Amino acid sequence: MDHTTPSAPDPLAAHLTDYALSYLHSAALRTAARIGVADHLADGPRGVGELAALTGTSEGHLRRILRLLATKDVFREDDKGAFHLTPLAERLRSDTPSSLREAVLMATDDSFTRPAARLEDSVRTGRSVFDEIYGAPFFEYLSREPSAGEAFDRGMASVSTGEDDEVAAAYAFPEKGTVVDVGGGRGGLLHRTLVRNPGLTGILYDRDAVLRGHSLDVPELAGRWEVRPGDFFTSVPAGADVYLLKRILHDWPDEDCVRILRTCRAGMTAGSRLLAVDSVIPQDNTPHPGKALDVLMMTTLNGQERGEEEFRRLFAEAGLRLVRVVPTGTAVSIVEAAVAA
Ligand SMILES: C[S@@+](CC[C@H](N)C(=O)[O-])C[C@H]1O[C@@H](n2cnc3c(N)ncnc32)[C@H](O)[C@@H]1O
Repeated sequence: MDHTTPSAPDPLAAHLTDYALSYLHSAALRTAARIGVADHLADGPRGVGELAALTGTSEGHLRRILRLLATKDVFREDDKGAFHLTPLAERLRSDTPSSLREAVLMATDDSFTRPAARLEDSVRTGRSVFDEIYGAPFFEYLSREPSAGEAFDRGMASVSTGEDDEVAAAYAFPEKGTVVDVGGGRGGLLHRTLVRNPGLTGILYDRDAVLRGHSLDVPELAGRWEVRPGDFFTSVPAGADVYLLKRILHDWPDEDCVRILRTCRAGMTAGSRLLAVDSVIPQDNTPHPGKALDVLMMTTLNGQERGEEEFRRLFAEAGLRLVRVVPTGTAVSIVEAAVAA
């Protein structure tokens, strides 16, 4: 065999190997976000030596991860060896309204990656391994470990900044009345909903620790909101016109979703609407961002992303009827439900 003639590249091997190593892209992205590279480039490009000194890292190793990230258009190196922000890298800055830094840190956190590394066990048993690793179900663990809870709440708020205004704009809310955001986190969606609908008032409903970091206390919403701690398996504020549940049902298996929906149903009047805001995933193999999240829900929470028929069945079991699915232009849709006749 002639070892000097390169053999034809095998595109399948290259593709599969790159796919198999994609966790290294994720680790490089997390590292860049953690050490704050994008913040240090906010005022202009810098050489790696300078970046390494500013971030307290090894110059050689830093160059190697930036070089990898640049292959995915996160940072760009010029011909003098200086690194620049790109539109993707901009979103890693910590100090901009559209920052996704906290979302990246949440998505690459141990609490997601360790259970994902044991996906095979989940697939064999049909159960998440989260409790086995962390000694408690996900939300109990977040309550027990305040720093993990904080990181998750900041991460969710960061994910939500990219979709809250689109969701609020996509639905024709009533002109007057009350909206309860059930499991509303730090209040990003309620904030955008109230800004867009000046006749509405809002109640942000979540676990006590989450509400302590809420973002509703701003002059433009003065007098139009309250926060109420509680457990959505037990009760929700009654008599509201709209119940929002954004990225709630996907956290739970069917039987728990039905319990949450029944609690909401008990608080609803004949004219109330419930809006489940989640991925509505196609059941075939069409790509959809919810399909990776679906596996995250499997490994971390025993939850799942669902298709329209699955939402219809859950609603029916809870005494609700699916009215329609409203796309929002983001990864999530609004699945509207009313009290069944
Ligand atoms: C995936 S996050 C979604 C947050 C927010 N709706 C959003 O889209 O950014 C799920 C939320 O449900 C809340 N949650 C979990 N269990 C709860 C319970 N039993 N009662 C009330 N809220 C709960 C969590 O604290 C968290 O804020």
